[in-house]
Parts: sequence; C-alpha cells; structure tokens
Amino acid sequence: MKIAIHNNSGWNREWITYCQDRKIDHKVVDAYSSDIVGQVSDCDIFMWHHSHVCYKDLIFAKQLLYSLENRGMHVYPNFNTCWHFDDKVGQKYLLEAIKAPLVPSYVFYDKHTATQWADATSYPKVFKLRRGAASMNVHLVKNKKEAQRFIKRAFDGGFCPFDMQSHIRENVRKFKAAKISLSHLLLSSRRIIHKPEYAKMNGNEKGYVYFQDFIPNNSFDFRLELAGDKCWGCRRMVRPGDFRASGGGDEDHDHTKIPIDIVRQSFEYKDRLGMQSVGFDYLLNEGGDAVLLEMSYGFGYAKGDGEGYWTRSLDRIEEKIIPSHEIIQSMIKAYNAGTISRHAVEGCVLQCV
Ligand SMILES: Nc1ncnc2c1ncn2[C@@H]1O[C@H](COP(=O)(O)OP(=O)(O)O)[C@@H](O)[C@H]1O
Ligand SMILES: [Mg+2]
Repeated sequence: MKIAIHNNSGWNREWITYCQDRKIDHKVVDAYSSDIVGQVSDCDIFMWHHSHVCYKDLIFAKQLLYSLENRGMHVYPNFNTCWHFDDKVGQKYLLEAIKAPLVPSYVFYDKHTATQWADATSYPKVFKLRRGAASMNVHLVKNKKEAQRFIKRAFDGGFCPFDMQSHIRENVRKFKAAKISLSHLLLSSRRIIHKPEYAKMNGNEKGYVYFQDFIPNNSFDFRLELAGDKCWGCRRMVRPGDFRASGGGDEDHDHTKIPIDIVRQSFEYKDRLGMQSVGFDYLLNEGGDAVLLEMSYGFGYAKGDGEGYWTRSLDRIEEKIIPSHEIIQSMIKAYNAGTISRHAVEGCVLQCV
C-alpha cells in the first residue's frame, strides 16, 4: 500500500509527518501539476485536504479526486464526502432527500419567483450564500424590504464571496475583546485594498438567492465533527449582539453540555451520507429538537478539539485525538478491508465493459 499526499499545509502536512514517523510508504505529489494523474499511478490512496478559499482548488480539486476515484483509487475526500463541500444549496437538496432535519430552506433562481416568495413569507429569515465559512455573508433579514434588497443584488451585481464589511467588523470586535493584537488587526485591514485571491479570481456569487427560516433563542450552536468511528464536538457561542456563532472564536468544550442524541444523529447522518469525515452545525428549534444548518468535510482545529470523543456505541473516551490522524487511519483501514466507494466501483465496472 502506498499513499500519495498533496504537498501542502494543514492536514496534508500532518499526513506526511504521520507517514514519515511511522515509516508508511508514501509519496508527496503536486496536485497542481498537469501530470498529477501519472504521478499517482503507482499509489493506492490519494489524499488532498483542499480548500474553499484557494481559487485553484475550487476549479479542479473535486474533478481530480473523482477522476482518481473512478479509476479505482481510494481517495480522500471521496465523492460522497465532498461533492457538496462549500455548497449550502447542494446540501439543501441532499439533506431534504435523506429526510434529515434541515432548517426549512428556500432557494430561487430568478428574481420574479424570489420576489413573490418574499412578498408572501414570514420574517425574520436568514440570508446565506451557498459558499463561505465563519459566518461570512450570513445575514438576518428582518422584513420584506430587506429581503428584496438581497434578491435585487443576487440577480444584479451579486455578492463578493469575501465579505469585506463583516471581515473588518469582526477583526475590530476581536481586537476590542483583546482576542487579537493591534498588529493582527492592522494586518487584516490590508484586505480593504487587497481582496483575497480567491475572491478576485472566482468572481461574485449571483443568479440564485438562498434563505432559511430564522431559528430564534440560540445563544450557541453545536458543532459535531466525525472521522472514522469517532465523534467530538463543542458549543460555539453567539457573538455579543449578534445571532451568529461560526467563526466567533468563543467555544465551550464541556462535552456534558452536548445532548447525546445529537451525537447519535451525527453518526447516523454520516453513515447515511457515506462521508469519510464531516462537521455538522446544529441549532435547537423552538420544540427543543436539533436542526441542521450545514455541513463540511473539512474543519479547522480549535482549542479543546480532540480532548475526548464518543464512540459509535456513544461511550465517552477521555483520550486525546488528532483529527487528521483519525482520517488517515480510517483511509488505511478502508484500504486494508478492501472497502471502496460505490462511485469507484461503478467506475471500475465501466472500465471493464
Ligand atoms: N437559520 C438560522 N437561524 C438562526 N441562526 C442561524 C441560522 N443559520 C445560521 N445561523 C447562525 O449563523 C452561523 C453561521 O451560519 P452557517 O450556515 O453555519 O454558515 P458558515 O458557513 O459561515 O458557518 C451559525 O453558526 C449560526 O450561529
Ligand atoms: Mg457553519
């Protein structure tokens, strides 16, 4: 067994170190080079933690991964794990299709239909782009007039995926709360002049508009993360004077505050969706039931992550884990067990016809 890993930072780097430390046969490759398919031809597994804020990754990471999977390789992330990555609209259809408790969500692809809906619906609603993280471009819509403003823009100039105003506001807030230094604040302000590359290269989000019902009275959301047979998570506190938690940086890792039923559901949805790893965001609705906001195959590390986890039988184990290690271990386990995804099997069958 030989593992190809894209030479990059984050999880990619941790996987390379993992293989080096354990003397696991691996090859560091460059996913951006034109001959990448050839480069990995002597490998059994290909792993690439690609990013939603790298314009190059957005152009071809999924296409490369699915192509290799179709050839019969074990890839991470595979088709089921990442076709809906950074695509909340795609997730809406998928979660509705499997009858998962997604917050009631609405998407429109023309201005007229969206306006008719906005005239008739109740408020508040939450506006989101299909792309984004850390609450960027997630807004409360208090009334019809505000909804119409979002709709107009969605079918006009569109929305920059990098939300400058909330970026600046967020950094000023963190500075005032002594969470970042003055130099960090000044450094982040360079974005006023220099937009990140992905925002310049990928263009504005437009041609659709996406809303969700507003789920009131939540002073935190639940973030549950899963890889292999383990689940861990935390509560993320809503920013002061806001309704949004994601990206605020204030987290409570007391696991006793996470209802065990949410852990059970998370294992169930992960399996149903056939995902290798996933982070789910939940809120509690007015009836006290957990409802899903969105999901993502990748997730950043936060202080307190991996301090303990739940098993599939919902036992709590107080043992430190490293999420990227869980992922590579489960890839090796799947390879050794000969478990290959449905997508890959279909690809192999086609090759043989
Ligand atoms: N429908 C909703 N009702 C109430 N709060 C919401 C809703 N959707 C999102 N939020 C809040 O906004 C935050 C960001 O939303 P989310 O959809 O998770 O986007 P992101 O990709 O930026 O994390 C969540 O952490 C949650 O606190
Ligand atoms: Mg989120």
